[in-house]
Amino acid sequence: MNHNFPDDFIWGAATASFQIEGAAYDFGKLPSIWDTFSHTPGNVVNGDTGDFACDHYNRFIQDIAIMKELGIKAYRFSISWPRVMKDAKNTPNPQGIEFYKKLTDELIKNDIKPVATLYHWDLPQILQDEGGWANRKTAEYFVNFAELMFRELDGKIYQWITFNEPSVFIFLGNLDGVHAPGMKDIWTSAKCVHNVLLAHGETVKRFRKNGYKGQIGITLNLAPYEPASKDNKDVMAALTGDAQWNRLFLDPIFKGTYPKIIMENPQFKKILEAIDSEDMKVISEKIDFLGINYYFRNVVKYSQKGKLGFESVKMDGEKTYFGWEVYPQGLYDILRYIKENYGNIPLYITENGATYDDILTSDRKIHDVQRISYLKRHFEKALLAIQDGINLKGYYVWSLLDNFEWAEGYSKRFGLVYIDYKTFERIPKDSFLWYKKVIEENTFEV
Ligand code: BGC
Repeated sequence: MNHNFPDDFIWGAATASFQIEGAAYDFGKLPSIWDTFSHTPGNVVNGDTGDFACDHYNRFIQDIAIMKELGIKAYRFSISWPRVMKDAKNTPNPQGIEFYKKLTDELIKNDIKPVATLYHWDLPQILQDEGGWANRKTAEYFVNFAELMFRELDGKIYQWITFNEPSVFIFLGNLDGVHAPGMKDIWTSAKCVHNVLLAHGETVKRFRKNGYKGQIGITLNLAPYEPASKDNKDVMAALTGDAQWNRLFLDPIFKGTYPKIIMENPQFKKILEAIDSEDMKVISEKIDFLGINYYFRNVVKYSQKGKLGFESVKMDGEKTYFGWEVYPQGLYDILRYIKENYGNIPLYITENGATYDDILTSDRKIHDVQRISYLKRHFEKALLAIQDGINLKGYYVWSLLDNFEWAEGYSKRFGLVYIDYKTFERIPKDSFLWYKKVIEENTFEV
């Protein structure tokens, strides 16, 4: 098999503001919901917070030199809304904006394309106090923030991503309560879904209307949903899982409708039915590309314990340190699923990667052979997809650096670069060296 990727294939790496920046209360930054959540005892493993994280805010020049060494063509980062606005509604914070200007200038100087996510989960706390994403006004404020960044960084950003993984931050944060803001309410979640989608659509509209440069899209966390058995109830469970986690976001964006199965759920129905058809037009404003974050597939069975009538089944076999099943075929399957159901839009894997129990050896190296093997097998499936005519344009490894892994704090490491959290020393892992070679040669050995 030929293992060459297309010449213009974009190899990249991704991070997110709250997970790496630190400087959580400096230079006029407002607290975000993740500052509040992580400072509340019991929410995050070991009581870890984002106060210092990787200290990227103060070390971004060094981090870009590391990216240059790695050879990535593009870097996906996110902009912290509470850092760039003083009141989160209308007033900019010039110091915060300056940081992202310097960051993007330095990337461009090093020939690395900046790809900016506008929302990777760090909502300003003051907006959560007014209802967060369950409040329609938040969507309006988001568009103000987005437009501020479009203006300030116009011409510098290769691609804009409105939201990172709405399903995850909405359901883990508002239905399961394990992420910020820590709520457990299905009504709230249903409202959040619509308001986030609306914020996405309005932002795309504004971007087009005012003719900003670059492309715009969204990143969704997508995965195949498979029934645990042939039993009708399990088959239905898989369709429901697919509807809640995949189609609830894909259908409105690509087709301007909510999935029928979700509309049959009494709570969702009440909220989503009341929606103005004008909203659906806004939500389905055409995007330039779709970002997909893929980590594992979901095998599900019928269960009354599950809030929507299903629950995941634990699979035997290979797992990462998170306990997530290693299932590269799922990457191929989800890419094909998008093409078959939503057309041949340009696709990017905006995140894929794994956490392992990385051991720092006495000569300060990390021999993360499992991560290399994980990536290699997923790259293979990506290549197969391209050879089968799927419009896959790029691949961003999660993550460039070890970082604050949300409710898991610093206990889970996903980086190509190891962070010593006491000294902030950066140590490239073996996977970094392996990935560097893949990028250089645009191919990999099997
Ligand atoms: C998120 C990242 C996160 C990664 C690993 C994705 O859900 O976008 O922020 O660190 O998965 O859990």
